[in-house]
Amino acid sequence: MKQNFIFVITLLTIFSIVNAFPRQFYKRDTIFNPCTTGSPDTITVTITPDPLVAGPNVFNVTGTLTNGTIDTGSELLIQLQDDAGEVIGEPFPFDICANVTCPATATTFSLQEEIQIDTLPEEYNIQVQINDADGNTLACATSTVPSA
Ligand SMILES: *[C@@H]1O[C@H](CO)[C@@H](O)[C@H](O)[C@H]1NC(C)=O
Ligand SMILES: *[C@@H]1O[C@H](CO)[C@@H](O)[C@H](O)[C@H]1NC(C)=O
Ligand SMILES: *[C@@H]1O[C@H](CO)[C@@H](O)[C@H](O)[C@H]1NC(C)=O
Repeated sequence: MKQNFIFVITLLTIFSIVNAFPRQFYKRDTIFNPCTTGSPDTITVTITPDPLVAGPNVFNVTGTLTNGTIDTGSELLIQLQDDAGEVIGEPFPFDICANVTCPATATTFSLQEEIQIDTLPEEYNIQVQINDADGNTLACATSTVPSA
C-alpha cells in the first residue's frame, strides 16, 4: 500500500517536471522565407501557436518597407494556399493604415493579427503579403507545411 503511494507520487512528480518544460525548448516548426517573386523588402513572420491550428492563430508580422507607398487601401494579406496556389478557405486581409500612419513611404511596422482557421489540411503553404493600394506587393513571406 505504501509502495503504491510512493509510486504514484513519483509519477506525479515526473509529469509535473515534463509539463514545466518551457515552450521555447520546442523547435519552431514554421519557418518563413521571402517569396520567390514580389518581395522587394523582407518581413519577419512568427505564428502562435506554431504550427497553426484549426481555431484562432496570431500572426506577428514585422519589417521595414523601403519601396512603394503605404496608403489608404494598403493591406496585410494572409492566405493559406494549396500546391496549385489556390486559396484554402478565405483570405485574411488587414488594413495596415489602422496601425501605421498613412501615407508612409518608408516605415517600420509591427502587426499582430488574429485569424480564425476553420479547417486545416495536412499540407499547405502560408503566404503573407504587404500590398499597396494598387495591388503591388511590397513585401512577401511564405512557408510550406510540412517543411521539406
Ligand atoms: C521598387 O518598386 C518599383 C515599382 O513598384 C519597382 O520597379 C522596383 O523594382 C522596386 N525596387 C526594388 C529595389 O525592389
Ligand atoms: C513580433 O516579432 C518581433 C520581431 O521578431 C518581436 O520583436 C516582437 O517581440 C514580436 N511581438 C510579439 C507580440 O510576439
Ligand atoms: C493593429 O490594429 C488592429 C486593429 O485596429 C488592432 O487590433 C491591433 O492591436 C493593432 N496592433 C498594433 C501592434 O498596433
